[in-house]
Amino acid sequence: MARQTPLRAIRGMHDLLPDESARWQQLEDCARAVLERYGYKEMRTPLVEQSELFKRSIGEVTDIVEKEMYSFEDRGGDQLSLRPEGTASCVRAAIEHGLLDQPRRIWYRGPMFRRERPQRGRYRQFHQIGVEVFGLAGPDIDLEVILLTRRLWSALGLTQLRLEINSLGDRAERAAYRDQLVAYLRQYQDRLDDDSRRRLETNPLRVLDSKNPDLAELIAEAPSLTEALGSESRAHFETLCAGLEQAGVAYQINPRLVRGLDYYNRSVFEWITDALGAQGTVCAGGRYDGLVEQLGGRATPAVGFALGIERLLELSQMPPPPSADAYLIAVGEQATAAAIPIAEQIRDALPQLRLLCHCGGGSFKSQFKRADRSGAKVALVLGDDELAEQRIGIKPLRGADGDDPQAKAEQISVSIDALADRLRNFL
Ligand code: HAM
Repeated sequence: MARQTPLRAIRGMHDLLPDESARWQQLEDCARAVLERYGYKEMRTPLVEQSELFKRSIGEVTDIVEKEMYSFEDRGGDQLSLRPEGTASCVRAAIEHGLLDQPRRIWYRGPMFRRERPQRGRYRQFHQIGVEVFGLAGPDIDLEVILLTRRLWSALGLTQLRLEINSLGDRAERAAYRDQLVAYLRQYQDRLDDDSRRRLETNPLRVLDSKNPDLAELIAEAPSLTEALGSESRAHFETLCAGLEQAGVAYQINPRLVRGLDYYNRSVFEWITDALGAQGTVCAGGRYDGLVEQLGGRATPAVGFALGIERLLELSQMPPPPSADAYLIAVGEQATAAAIPIAEQIRDALPQLRLLCHCGGGSFKSQFKRADRSGAKVALVLGDDELAEQRIGIKPLRGADGDDPQAKAEQISVSIDALADRLRNFL
């Protein structure tokens, strides 16, 4: 048969290869540990939902719903979409399963799908870790959510992130501001680009979010949403700002921060870096007090955020952990036959140990090469002679100061029975 052309992954969707997965797991484990310390519980929802859910929550006239959703009609005629984000699904599930009877702190992780133009830091399948808090209305929980993200950055060793915050006020305040903004922008209608002219009619606040440098000045001089806030929204925002100051979190108020999803009100925030080029927002969220009701639930205040795993990993300097702690080498007929059972014994005795057992034979030299490449700290060396005496060699592969070969100690020989105890000293 003629050789077939191999198929490739879909543009903007990436395979997570075995050599990269350890860094993903490290980040996910770290996030999970931090989230658990704040009392969050994980929820998993389907990747596919009714398209209507996203239209009603994210908004009909947003980029995501207008241009980016992977939507299709299934064989039964239902209109479905791959989820472009997690908040809508979380709210849908919380209503459906009656979770809104008491305050809840929920987190989730997984792939999201948006058909954006792929570029560095922007993918069509990307991965988020997100949190949603239901049933708490005050600025105290907004503050806690932001402090949680700060703790996560410090656990991940990330220092180059800055926090921008804003308040979008409540629905009535935003509607009044919208009129002011439209009146202002109408005066300059012919200076607007096509996209902004269209937004002016459909979703004028989004004009503030335009990345077009030609509009920067016009936008900078637009009336400010902050000025349009009523006393309650203002007090909420001021309490949040005071809490951030008290906790020593540096932040910048960005009155143009409006977010690309329609469900937000009051506090919104983004953690941004300059190290990733155009796609510098690694984490974003805010309050969305109206969404539960909008999706058919009882009015319930809510706040949350999501971080982009790919973007965070690109920033993180955490070295990947080695794939093994120890590598078992065996040369000789009896030793080779005994290697796998001995490896099992060692795994029974040391449940934390990551032990790679050499398979496929070969000389000591070639097996040592593999052992070295595995990143293991020690090689366990078994030959027929050692086996006859029920002994095994322990050969450190790395010095105390990393890879310095001079620092590597000599091989020692220990009885197989004592191996587990002796190994503990090396690891
Ligand atoms: P979002 O701003 O659309 O918010 O996305 C949150 C984060 O996901 C972004 O800051 C970014 O790090 C990452 N992200 C978004 N799109 C892409 C992409 N195409 N490629 C790579 N990474 C991307 C939300 O999704 C809201 N659901 C957050 C939220 C939760 N608000 C309240 N609760």
